[in-house]
Amino acid sequence: MSLKEEIQKRRTFAIIAHPDAGKTTLTEKLLLFGGAINTAGAVKSNKIDTATKSDWMEIEKQRGISVATSVMGFEYKGIKINLLDTPGHQDFAEDTYRTLTAVDSVIMVIDCVKGVEIQTEKLMEVCRMRNTPVICFINKLDREGRDPYDLLDEVEEKLNIKVRPLSWPIGMGKSFKGVYNLYDQKLNLFTPSQRKLSDDRKTFENLEDSELDQLIGQNPADQLREDVELIEGVYPEFEISDYLEGKVAPVFFGSAVNNFGVNEMLDTFIQIAPPPKSRMTDVREVKPEEPKFSGFVFKIHANMDPNHRNRIAFLRICSGKFERNKPYNHVGGAKPLRFSNVTQFMAQDKEIIDEAFPGDIVGLYDTGNLKIGDTLTDGENMVFTGIPSFSPEIFREVVNKDAMKTKQLEKGLKQLMEEGVAQLFTFEMGSRKVVGTVGQLQFEVIQFRLKNEYNATVEFHPMNLYKACWISSTDKKQLDEFVRSKNRHIARDKDGKLVFMAESKAWLQMVQDNYPEIEFHFTSEF
Ligand code: G4P
Repeated sequence: MSLKEEIQKRRTFAIIAHPDAGKTTLTEKLLLFGGAINTAGAVKSNKIDTATKSDWMEIEKQRGISVATSVMGFEYKGIKINLLDTPGHQDFAEDTYRTLTAVDSVIMVIDCVKGVEIQTEKLMEVCRMRNTPVICFINKLDREGRDPYDLLDEVEEKLNIKVRPLSWPIGMGKSFKGVYNLYDQKLNLFTPSQRKLSDDRKTFENLEDSELDQLIGQNPADQLREDVELIEGVYPEFEISDYLEGKVAPVFFGSAVNNFGVNEMLDTFIQIAPPPKSRMTDVREVKPEEPKFSGFVFKIHANMDPNHRNRIAFLRICSGKFERNKPYNHVGGAKPLRFSNVTQFMAQDKEIIDEAFPGDIVGLYDTGNLKIGDTLTDGENMVFTGIPSFSPEIFREVVNKDAMKTKQLEKGLKQLMEEGVAQLFTFEMGSRKVVGTVGQLQFEVIQFRLKNEYNATVEFHPMNLYKACWISSTDKKQLDEFVRSKNRHIARDKDGKLVFMAESKAWLQMVQDNYPEIEFHFTSEF
């Protein structure tokens, strides 16, 4: 198969959802349809049980599951689908943001009872930054949910994206009769079943057909006719190009746990979802069909065994063919790297592979050379952009409790930050080190791992900080002046970039007003 054909047959995406909306269930059903697994219950939720929150080993055991399911590859109707898992726990939101940089599209699951929830809003912001195409799956139609029109309005309003229903529910909860596919005009009748995989869809050339009344009853049939007329009147025709540009999200309704509406969505997904796309580097745009390999690391998973400090780096292939044992340019690194242990993930299995293509995600065994955001190429010096850090939400000062182990502490902190566990900021004055995270959990993780893997003992002291803002200015003199006058609040991130550590929202606003020539950014890439 030619490189072009390999690229055309791949679809790499992630499912995003607020916890409990049904991401795990939908993932499992997709794998069932893809024939990658054959029993329900095979996919484990990567949700972290909050009851065990204080027990880090337990957390890691649970998180271990997510290594195996980090990428689930399967074939469906001749298409190779790479489904990337995203952590269920919001404290690992940074992980999810980065995973979204490695996909070409997204399926968003919304619980029809709860509507758009906070975590979905945040994840959607990240998708919008990159114009990632989104398909929306409104789940749990077997429950008494909210009115579908209200749900769609809420999606448009809260997620700031236009929607276009491609299917429409007939009733809901106890009176849920099925879904009418507006795209291919087929009626899919609902029978609650955890197991049934095939569905019998009936085509209606004309909804006036009296058979519809016989099948679902006169009132629901009339309601459907009314709804379809209204939808076709209100929503413009679905244009694939609008979806591909991230402007319009097609919407499907279903019930994942009942296998309902899932393969309908999957069939549309493989028709409309984009194959691997071009990606930007600091030098130029890279097209997937370029013969020379390039890719970037978006996730690193550490080995929890302190005797074997190897880790798995997850690499997204962006162009060309990646080959095992071939030396590649580690851009900015000390030496070329070659990988003998290259893993591809197929549903529940891992296998060593010799080659991989754009859109594929491979696991590279690494002894500490790679860090998140690193680029590997077949020669060229360029770095993939668009893998930013976001301002953390919780900040704590790192206090070394064992002065004899300062070196170990520094090494440990550096490596953990390279894995993306948290972000480290070092104040210009006094070199105080501050760790920033999006959740409390990471502090436990860091403390435990520093002790266990590096023999360093730390405490974390609360800090009254609101945001870390990366700063820049076109006027270097003004920037220098700002740094000088605010030097108690200036820190450097892991790459040495200047960061303003704001104590409160109001104060940040005041500083912004007072220094109009300084730009304040909430992500590290601007
Ligand atoms: P998540 O990964 O997004 O966090 O959600 P997950 O799939 O684990 O689903 C959360 C709960 O919602 C599960 O119930 C699951 O069975 C249920 N669920 C998923 N899809 C549907 C659906 O279409 N209809 C209904 N009624 N429920 C659905 P649970 O009680 O937490 O777990 P379980 O014991 O059922 O596995």
